[in-house]
Amino acid sequence: MCGIIGYIGNKPAMPILIESLKKLEYRGYDSAGITVADDSELQTYKTAGRISNLESVLPEAITGTIGIGHTRWATHGVPSTDNSHPHLSGDVAVVHNGIIENYLQLREQLEADGYKFLSDTDTETIAHLLHSNLYGGVDGNEKTTDLLSALRRTIQQLEGSYAVATVCGSEPDVMVAVRKDSPLVVGLGDGEFYASSDVTAFLNHTKDVVFIDDMELVRITPQRIDYFNMDGNPIKKDITTIEWDIESAEKAGYEHFMLKEIHEQATSIQDTFSGKIFEFGGAVELKELNLTREDIRNIHRLEIVACGTSWNAGLLGKYLFERLAGIHTDVSTSSEFRYGDPVMKNDVLTIAITQSGETADTLAAIRSSKSYGCNSIAITNVVGSTITRETNNVIYTRSGPEIGVAATKTFTAQLIILYLLALHFGRANGHIRADNAKDLLVALKRIPGQIQKILNHQEHIRECAIQFAQSHDYFFIGRHLNYPIALESALKLKEISYIHAEGYAAGELKHGPLALIDVNTPVVAIATKGNTYDKILSNIKEVKARDAMVIAVADEDDTEIEKYVDIVLRVPPTHELLSPILSAVALQLLAYYTALERGCSIDKPRNLAKSVTVE
Ligand code: M6R
Repeated sequence: MCGIIGYIGNKPAMPILIESLKKLEYRGYDSAGITVADDSELQTYKTAGRISNLESVLPEAITGTIGIGHTRWATHGVPSTDNSHPHLSGDVAVVHNGIIENYLQLREQLEADGYKFLSDTDTETIAHLLHSNLYGGVDGNEKTTDLLSALRRTIQQLEGSYAVATVCGSEPDVMVAVRKDSPLVVGLGDGEFYASSDVTAFLNHTKDVVFIDDMELVRITPQRIDYFNMDGNPIKKDITTIEWDIESAEKAGYEHFMLKEIHEQATSIQDTFSGKIFEFGGAVELKELNLTREDIRNIHRLEIVACGTSWNAGLLGKYLFERLAGIHTDVSTSSEFRYGDPVMKNDVLTIAITQSGETADTLAAIRSSKSYGCNSIAITNVVGSTITRETNNVIYTRSGPEIGVAATKTFTAQLIILYLLALHFGRANGHIRADNAKDLLVALKRIPGQIQKILNHQEHIRECAIQFAQSHDYFFIGRHLNYPIALESALKLKEISYIHAEGYAAGELKHGPLALIDVNTPVVAIATKGNTYDKILSNIKEVKARDAMVIAVADEDDTEIEKYVDIVLRVPPTHELLSPILSAVALQLLAYYTALERGCSIDKPRNLAKSVTVE
């Protein structure tokens, strides 16, 4: 998974490409490179490591006003200068995000044709293939066609996923780009154009964008932009105006994006539900759904597919759909679902949860569910992302860009959408009464203020994090609705602090993991009030009896809990069904401050990337 950027306009390309690559670093950051076309001469600079490494090898100025750039997260070949993009073949330069599945076969054929490979990447095959299609072979000097047609021919030979941008010395004022199963968006500036994996790369230059769909090509010169289908015929595309401004994509004074994004939850959640809640009638309005009351009544089962944090949100969704709407719900990790033998009929509604909308496994899972004739809903944060074109219905979480690799505000927003959807279904099929729905919606509207209260009193959480920051193992336990939060909190801690952490359904401890509990194993027990409160107290006693240090997440007004635990992290009391949101925020802070104390790379944890567009 990588980030690509192309610029074509009237300003020097190099500083613009570098600035854009910095915005794209969240997509991959193990190597980076740029190619700038200066008349017919291509100047390429690339290196392993972060963008700052690339900057250190750049000359002071390059005059070209057309260029492409890339920031990489390695899939084929280790992070190294040779494996960094752009990849070159003669005077053709290519950047690519995705995976070419038939690259070995193509490589063999290209090597037999005389092409020399300098890298271990799949992408280099695209460069040579494109060169071959443009010049008729390794020794060709005269073009046999134009860059657009050559790229069109090239992608017909590729299997896999790609967003590709390319420039060549023989058409020095042209950039061509194409996509299949990897994001590509074009920015329309004033006398200049951008092509990138993500709008954040150029948002401070233009907010007018065009989302490129699968198997569409775009040809850009400084004067014009044209879109084509695979037959080479021109097509029309709609312009979308992005409402995010660049400030919301930057850190706004916080030390890390993650901390900023944790803080944003007090307001972002409001954006998530705004216009959807009519609490006095106990009604939820989801205008974006094309489902009649009859359709909802005919849903026999829900199948949720998601990965990582989104899967944890889905697990909570199961409890909500079953409690509030009485609809049997299964939750699958997308990577398992796609290779399983699910029993799916057209009375199953599939819900794909993915903040990025680009997770390869979730896209594959939704395509598989479609093959059974199932209706589908996507819950995503990214407007125009691939999942939105793969599902019949889309609900946006409206969280704004999330840059930290660890999902925080998008997780709580996904939960909000799941509450709303479950209530909507429950009201439509008559499972929940209006007054009960109203109680929940009134309480939901108070959640942003309650999150703010947790944020205002985070010092205690920070002290707790520091106290246990050198632990080797952590356990998070919860029951029922709090179980998914135990899983999510353990995931959060491990991904950014590198402490081994396990999330467990508290009742399962005695079936094995209790053997691991001792004085050096902090146990976080999510113990907000609800119908399993007494049960979690018993589980707390079990681990205390094994000398564990216990940190409880509990309601502010709970005076009982402190008798049994070592530390209490307080959250405001709310409707039982909603308390997981507040516990999740408190434990995001615990993970953040633990990682901070350990000096970890919080926004870009090792081995991870923000959007996992490869299998
Ligand atoms: O974009 P998605 O929601 O589909 O991403 C799924 C996971 O890759 C993601 O949630 C991952 O687990 C996060 N890094 C967790 O913080």
